[in-house]
Amino acid sequence: MKQFLSLAGLPREEIVELLALAARLEKVGDPQALAGKILGLLFFNPSLRTLASMQAAMAKLGGTSFVVTPGGSSWKLETRTGVVMDGEASEHVREAIPVLAGYADVLGVRAFASGTDLAADLADTSFRQLAALSPKPVVNLESAIDHPCQALADWKTLDDLGVAPHGKLVLSWANHPKALPLAVPAAVLRMAALRGMAVTVLSPEAYALPEPLLAEARALAAGSGGSVVATDDRRAALAGAAIVYAKSWASAAHYGDGATESALRAGLASWCVEESWFESAREARFMHCLPVRRNVVVADAVLDSARSVVVQQAHNRLWAQMAVLHRMLAGVNAPVRPEGARVSLKEKR
Ligand code: CP
Repeated sequence: MKQFLSLAGLPREEIVELLALAARLEKVGDPQALAGKILGLLFFNPSLRTLASMQAAMAKLGGTSFVVTPGGSSWKLETRTGVVMDGEASEHVREAIPVLAGYADVLGVRAFASGTDLAADLADTSFRQLAALSPKPVVNLESAIDHPCQALADWKTLDDLGVAPHGKLVLSWANHPKALPLAVPAAVLRMAALRGMAVTVLSPEAYALPEPLLAEARALAAGSGGSVVATDDRRAALAGAAIVYAKSWASAAHYGDGATESALRAGLASWCVEESWFESAREARFMHCLPVRRNVVVADAVLDSARSVVVQQAHNRLWAQMAVLHRMLAGVNAPVRPEGARVSLKEKR
C-alpha cells in the first residue's frame, strides 16, 4: 500500500485484510515491526485523537514520530501557488513538504476544507496537491472530503459490536453552531456503503449531502450489496436502525455563506440527538467521531448511556492506524510478531 488517502481507493479485500491485521495487532501487538522507522505528522488543523493515536500507533510498533503544526510550533506555511509571499507565511509547502518527507518514511497530513469552494472541496484538490509534493507515502489524517483513518476505525467498531454486514446505519445531520466540513460524513458514507450496509442519510432539506457524494456511495454500495437513500423524515429513517451515526456538516446549498447558514441553523436546535430518537430502534448504538458538543449535537442522556460507543470508536483509531502503518512500512507479507516471539535463523539470515 503506497498511500492511504481514502477507503474508496482500496479493493474491498485489502480493507478486510487491514481490519484483520488491526484485530491481530490489538490482540498480540508487534512491538518491533517498525523499529528505526519514522512517521512525520503535519497538522494544518487541530486534533486530539488523530495526533495522539498516530504517535501512539507508531510507538507501539517500535517506530518514532515527529509533529509539525504550521503557524503554531513552526513557520506558517503558504499553500497557494504563484503568490508574492509578503504576508504571514514564511515558507511554502513546496519546500516544507519535501523537506519533512526527507526526515520520515511516511508522512501523515491533516488539511481541512476551505469551506468556500464546494467543487474544489469535493474533488479534494488542495489535499491532493499537498500529497503530490511528498516523495514519501502519505496518510490522509482528514482532508476536505475524507477521513479514512476514522472510517477504518468505525468499520472495526461495527465489526467488534457484531453489527450485521447489511444492517441499517442512519447517518444523521446534527445541530452545531458552526458550518463543519463534509469530510467525516463523506468518509462514513463510503465506509458503510463499502461494508454493504443499508444506509439512510437523514438531514433537514437544506443540509442534504451533495449529489456527487451520494452517487459515489451508491456505486460503492452496488458492489457490496448495500444501499443508500436520503431523507428528511426522521421517524421513517430511524425505524429499525442498528446504528445512529450523528455528525453536523455545512449546507452544500449555501456553502461558504456564513450568514445564511447561521439563519438556517437558528431553527434547527431540535436536531440534537435525544433518547426519544430511539423509540423505534431500541437496540441501536450511537456513534460519533468526536469531538462532540454535549446537548447541542447529542444529549447527555444518550452520550452517557450504554448505547454510546464513541470512546470505543476513538480507541479503535489506534489499532486501525497501526494496521495501516504496519502494511505501509513493514510490507504486505510481514508477519505479526508478538512481544517475546523468536525470529527464526532463516529470517535472521
Ligand atoms: N475524530 C477525530 O479525527 O478527532 P480529532 O479531530 O481530535 O483528531
